[in-house]
Amino acid sequence: MTTPKKGSSGRSYRGDAGVTITPKKSRGRTESSRRWIQRQLNDPFVAEAKARGFRSRAALKLEQMDQKNKIIKPHDAVLDLGCAPGGWLQYASQKIGLTQGHGRLVGIDLLDTDPVPGADILKGDINDDAMMRELIRLLGGKADVVLSDMAADTTGHRATDHLRTTALLDIALDMACRVLNPGGVFLAKCFRGGAEKDALDLMRRDFAIVKHVKPAASRQESVESYVLASGYRGTNISDDDTNAGGMR
Ligand SMILES: C[S@@+](CC[C@H](N)C(=O)[O-])C[C@H]1O[C@@H](n2cnc3c(N)ncnc32)[C@H](O)[C@@H]1O
Repeated sequence: MTTPKKGSSGRSYRGDAGVTITPKKSRGRTESSRRWIQRQLNDPFVAEAKARGFRSRAALKLEQMDQKNKIIKPHDAVLDLGCAPGGWLQYASQKIGLTQGHGRLVGIDLLDTDPVPGADILKGDINDDAMMRELIRLLGGKADVVLSDMAADTTGHRATDHLRTTALLDIALDMACRVLNPGGVFLAKCFRGGAEKDALDLMRRDFAIVKHVKPAASRQESVESYVLASGYRGTNISDDDTNAGGMR
């Protein structure tokens, strides 16, 4: 008999009992979408996230990275870039004590995000300067933590996908340097592939510690990883730079 594996919280979940679940109907589906559904059905982190009321398995990635690296603290002001469907917002809200009136939580995504009590959520593109200014206004000042799980739609062409996601890392870093308090933390999705080097160099200049992290819930076969930069040195970009359209 197969011993059920444990979820990240130590409990075991449906789809993780050594039984492979196959989609009921696969007619009309492409091979890749059939494989995706099968993987979802058999992924213990999908089952765990669902059982715990998270909107996405991504919430478990943030939880795992946070438990190991102490990223979010109670009462923090947190900005979440690429927040839909809202798993990271849910986790961050619990961690900062948002429903008890502590901290501040602001998110943005191109897609709709269901409300998270106490959080301010914008629908729009982070590349849009007006959105950037509105995020800063909603934060009511500075942030202690800037999170970015942004990912571009994949084209299937590896080099193109890498460049598109790295462009999102660049814009997230730019935003972080506008809003972080000295000592603040920046955590962002970072597909390894070479183009991210410039962003990493800037992070090493502006933050005390920069490291790559890969949580257990991030599929081992995926090129996805995260970069964690902590101890922001406080060399914020000014609004004048924003108005001049100046990027780093
Ligand atoms: C992996 S999902 C985020 C999952 C989220 N962390 C959660 O826990 O539910 C990546 C998100 O990035 C968003 N995104 C991609 N490009 C963006 C952009 N330019 N501006 C805002 N959001 C963007 C996508 O719409 C997508 O919802």
